[in-house]
Amino acid sequence: MRTETPQAIYLKDYTPPPFLIDTVDLDVAIFDENTRVRSRMGLRRNPAAADPQASLCLDGEDLVLESVALDGRILAAGEYVLCGGRLLLRVELPEAFMLETVSLIEPDKNTQLSGFYRSKDGYFTQCEAEGFRRITWFLDRPDVMAKYTVTLHADKAKFPVLLSNGNPVASGSEGVGRHWAKWVDPFRKPSYLFAMVAAKLDVLREDYQTRSGRTVHCAVFVEPGKLDQCAHAMAALKKSMKWDEVVFGLEMDLDHYMIVAVGDFNMGAMENKGLNIFNTKCVLASPDTATDSDFQHIDRVVAHEYFHNWTGDRVTCRDWFQLSLKEGLTVFRDQQFGMDMHSAGVTRIQDVRTLRAAQFPEDAGPMAHPIRPASYAEINNFYSATVYEKGAEVIRMIHTLIGKSAFRAGMDLYFKRHDGHAVTCEDFVSAMADASGVDLTQFKRWYNQAGTPRLVARGEYDAAARRFTLSFTQQYPATAYERRLEAEGRKFSRGAYHLPVVLGLIGPDGAELPLRLAGEDKAVGTQRVLELREDEQTFVFEDVAVQPVPSLLRGFSAPVILDYPYAEAELTHLMAHDTDAFSRWEAGQRLATQILLRGIEAFQTGKGEALGWIPASYVEAIRTLLASAADPESDPALIAEALTLPSEVVLAEAVSGVVDPDAIHGAREALIGHLAAQLKGELLMTYQALKLSAPYSPDAAQVGARALRNTCLDYLAGSATVEALALLKAQLDEADNMTDSVAALAALANLDVPERQAALDAFLERWKHEALVVDKWLNVQALSSAADTGSRVRSLLDHPAFDIRNPNKVYALVRAFCRGNPRHFHAADGSGYALAADVILLLDSANPQVASRIARSFDAWRRFDAARQSLARTQLLRIQAKTDLSRDVGEVIGRALE
Ligand code: PHE
Ligand code: ZN
Repeated sequence: MRTETPQAIYLKDYTPPPFLIDTVDLDVAIFDENTRVRSRMGLRRNPAAADPQASLCLDGEDLVLESVALDGRILAAGEYVLCGGRLLLRVELPEAFMLETVSLIEPDKNTQLSGFYRSKDGYFTQCEAEGFRRITWFLDRPDVMAKYTVTLHADKAKFPVLLSNGNPVASGSEGVGRHWAKWVDPFRKPSYLFAMVAAKLDVLREDYQTRSGRTVHCAVFVEPGKLDQCAHAMAALKKSMKWDEVVFGLEMDLDHYMIVAVGDFNMGAMENKGLNIFNTKCVLASPDTATDSDFQHIDRVVAHEYFHNWTGDRVTCRDWFQLSLKEGLTVFRDQQFGMDMHSAGVTRIQDVRTLRAAQFPEDAGPMAHPIRPASYAEINNFYSATVYEKGAEVIRMIHTLIGKSAFRAGMDLYFKRHDGHAVTCEDFVSAMADASGVDLTQFKRWYNQAGTPRLVARGEYDAAARRFTLSFTQQYPATAYERRLEAEGRKFSRGAYHLPVVLGLIGPDGAELPLRLAGEDKAVGTQRVLELREDEQTFVFEDVAVQPVPSLLRGFSAPVILDYPYAEAELTHLMAHDTDAFSRWEAGQRLATQILLRGIEAFQTGKGEALGWIPASYVEAIRTLLASAADPESDPALIAEALTLPSEVVLAEAVSGVVDPDAIHGAREALIGHLAAQLKGELLMTYQALKLSAPYSPDAAQVGARALRNTCLDYLAGSATVEALALLKAQLDEADNMTDSVAALAALANLDVPERQAALDAFLERWKHEALVVDKWLNVQALSSAADTGSRVRSLLDHPAFDIRNPNKVYALVRAFCRGNPRHFHAADGSGYALAADVILLLDSANPQVASRIARSFDAWRRFDAARQSLARTQLLRIQAKTDLSRDVGEVIGRALE
């Protein structure tokens, strides 16, 4: 039995590679039983190596080595050794040489989906982070960049499409029914960006003209028969290409840009140079199979992968500790794209929602890490909400602190200095600092410190002096991350963050007040960026004629938890008058949270049902909000966001002390039920008024209308009355798009009524041939609030529509249940924990990356009561006791138990 977290590697131990690889020539012959990979590499000693005499040790995993040759001479048995997944050469090596290896791999047995693997329609690769070593022997690290030439051979009828990075240069037939194709990538790249595909696929092709007049041949490859689901992804690609030209001056650099969709994929998508490989759920969309959020998600993922071409591929990471260099920056870029393409306010609200639901809990739990971790056991565990989402917030703060045009100058400088190189987060921050002239030394703490800082703000109004004084205190207690560094005796320092507070002051009439800070001779605008750098700082505003309500952290200008003692009336005031859409929404969330925290306490003391904790003024505020939908100027999408209460996961973060999932659920449901009862007429009216007659389109206006309409439906459905059921059934029958169907199905799945099963059965029968729609069918059941959800999810594991080998199915059912349905996952009898552990144990050997993502469901286990903790611990220990537990799961479970 293993009892410890697996061995870690450290950022401080980085050394340059002893050898460089300039060229790689791969010849890949695919057969039913195995694939033979012949690799010819041009190597030379790295002049920057620490040890000029170092021996050559190549990475390899699950490879059967057939031969090794040095400059054309086959090496004898004693001239090399294989040990622990490595190939060590024991011969004298010249300064520069050619090394040729021949190995066999078995892609049909590769269930990890890392390296070269079989999926329904053919063979695909996934090399980030360390998958290339599962294809051939290599220095599999991002600071080794080579030019690749690839020749693929396969059966022509079964795998007519043969692709790799770069440009197709030759192809032909050979042998009996076989063919080959040769690709050359003109750009040097790290091995993690390598890709190849041999499959039977349909393709949609369109050209794009870059602003300098070059033609890029774009192609979207999908499973045969799904061509009608590609248009949206293609359009998103072209929009992204245009946007990056306009906003960042960045043009596509290749003649071919290919997107290939595959149904078995661990993540969302992968930015391989010129040959992106995508999870089908991030490509395929038609109105009857995809929801509005699917359409928007596809836009964002296509953009994200495309933007990586510059922020990731042209300038890449020196080592995996720098992952946020490309991911934080590229998420920031796709967020900005989303804000430009859709509604800026709604996009920002949704992105902050994601941050709070996924990243804040991560930062508060056993896997806490800074956006640049100092150590890891398994890099796949660090494709995290922190590296991605908090990483993007850190870039956004630089953007806010130095301003848009200096940020653009910083990007230009970054590319000028580092194009074609593998660099570090410091290099990025230095480019920003040098281009803007702003000192960002202290800012770098965001890269080294973990945890969500708490910003305590207090305002004091002096009517006689017409002065408003705002004081800020930063709190940043040590997290699990620093506690571990301390236990390991490692040095670390902590200090105040450099962060921007974007603010305005709102007067009693709802107007924004002009802002003059003490010491300034005149007011400058009504919105300011205050820079915090100290543990405590005070700002004095002069000429403030009336007591203002401060609107703090507009646009969520820093990823902190704001502690400001707003009165409920002040929040209602901000909800109605703040000029910043995000802040209006935020005021509503804050108000709902304050009320719900009282409700949670009431439920714990048996006084919840009496509803004394719900102020009548709150119902009136929501009534006003609903009424505003009738105003043609209003944005229904924003109203829908404002009507959506903080999720149970987000509420759990707001609770201090022991988390009681039943009380959280009880209070939230009670508030929804009360609002539905009090506002039934308004909800119904809004629902009916928003019925669309135009044909479906995922444009902002329709999306907003459907979002608000389905939010109203959700409120109305909570009551399970005959009327509500009729509404749900009518929507299910009449819907001409997946957004409305699945919204009705999800609402019905919450109810323990006979209609539920009938609707679920009919839905499955209709969609059983569309894998992504079956995922939705699993998902609504996993997220159901009905009492029997735990046992239903357990039996769905054995349903023919479920497949534990397919990551999308596991995410739709198991991850959704464990991460998105806290009340059932944390069931008092421990059944949720047992279910998670069973799945983790089943998956650990087959697909450790997916198993590890499920294992993260236990992150918060110590926040629950003693009985639940004991049940969770039992399952954690059971997982830890598995022989040969993967490094992925071992690290997560080890940290949870630390
Ligand atoms: N680099 C990919 C992205 O962010 C994510 C990914 C990581 C995909 C690892 C596969 C494996 O776009
Ligand atoms: Zn990315």
